[in-house]
Amino acid sequence: MSKHTPIQSVQYRGDHLLLLDQHELPHKTDFVRIETTEQLWNAIHALQVRGAPAIGIAAAFGLSLWANQQKEESDLRTFVHQLKIQRNYLSSARPTAVNLCWALDRVVQSIQLAETVQDAIQLMEIEALTIQREDETTCQQIGEYALSLFQPGDRILTICNPGSIATARYGTALAAFYLAQERGVPLSVYACETRPLLQGSRLTTWELQQAGVDVTLITDNMAAHTIRIKNISAIIVGCDRIAANGDTANKIGTFGLALQAKALGIPFYVASPLSTIDLDTPTGECIPIEERHPEEVTHLAGKRIAPEGVRVYNPAFDVTPHEYISAIITEQGIIFGNYREKLAMVKNQMNLLIS
Ligand code: MRU
Repeated sequence: MSKHTPIQSVQYRGDHLLLLDQHELPHKTDFVRIETTEQLWNAIHALQVRGAPAIGIAAAFGLSLWANQQKEESDLRTFVHQLKIQRNYLSSARPTAVNLCWALDRVVQSIQLAETVQDAIQLMEIEALTIQREDETTCQQIGEYALSLFQPGDRILTICNPGSIATARYGTALAAFYLAQERGVPLSVYACETRPLLQGSRLTTWELQQAGVDVTLITDNMAAHTIRIKNISAIIVGCDRIAANGDTANKIGTFGLALQAKALGIPFYVASPLSTIDLDTPTGECIPIEERHPEEVTHLAGKRIAPEGVRVYNPAFDVTPHEYISAIITEQGIIFGNYREKLAMVKNQMNLLIS
């Protein structure tokens, strides 16, 4: 089987960043050019770049871009002070995905041994490039573990876009499908369209189609029926933050799918890089849930579909309590239950590796 090379959604060019404009997909594959942290903040906030790992990668490069624009002869203390302001500014672009802060903090911490601004600039660029490179390996490992849970011929349901364009490559929850495709293992994907911004119908179907993966689109309210009628064997989703007890925030609609999985007796898997596990957030109740503009609900493709003046509630994410999660699939292995203890173990090992 031939290996498909997907488009890389975040491309660093030293003095600018190119972001695959995820607003325009699937009709156009345009890139937005980013030169300032303000432009990047807007692109993250508007979901031109999206998906927890990808926004972390983009933000890491954003700090590096900013650093490259600073004068090398300026003093290190002032540089660090300004860097922290940029870090806080970028971290405010979206609240739920912890990868954003995680990646920004890695870049800030990377300059600990710098003696000059020049050192700091170089270290920051190296760290941002490392975060992107590591994410590709991480996703591939998650894919290997996820694949071990599936049988040839399985039909698997997913939501949102936990795919290649939401990461450095392969995706988290979609990684197994890329690996299966490369190896000729037949798997079918059922993609929920993911209202209101349609990441499932616009992005997941597009990227899987490009790779030749067998994908079928359904609307979100077709999931329970489809699980029963089409013999779906499992649900696999990505995530934006996993609390210390295993409660997991992901795209709105995910919790409903977990309830359906339990009711219909199929496993519900969460694919997560360790960077998405946040031990500082004790439970799902403490995860900040982004609420977005009402127009995302009242309008479709720029056209109003709801009456003028209607009140709207538009949470972008929901939290699936840990007891509904059959397993969390990380790059270090698969965790089946007992999440509080095992997440702490696996996460602390990672901290040892990168500190
Ligand atoms: O609002 P989005 O499109 O950024 O939401 C993304 C998700 O919910 C994904 O499932 C999650 O970030 C995992 S991406 C590999």
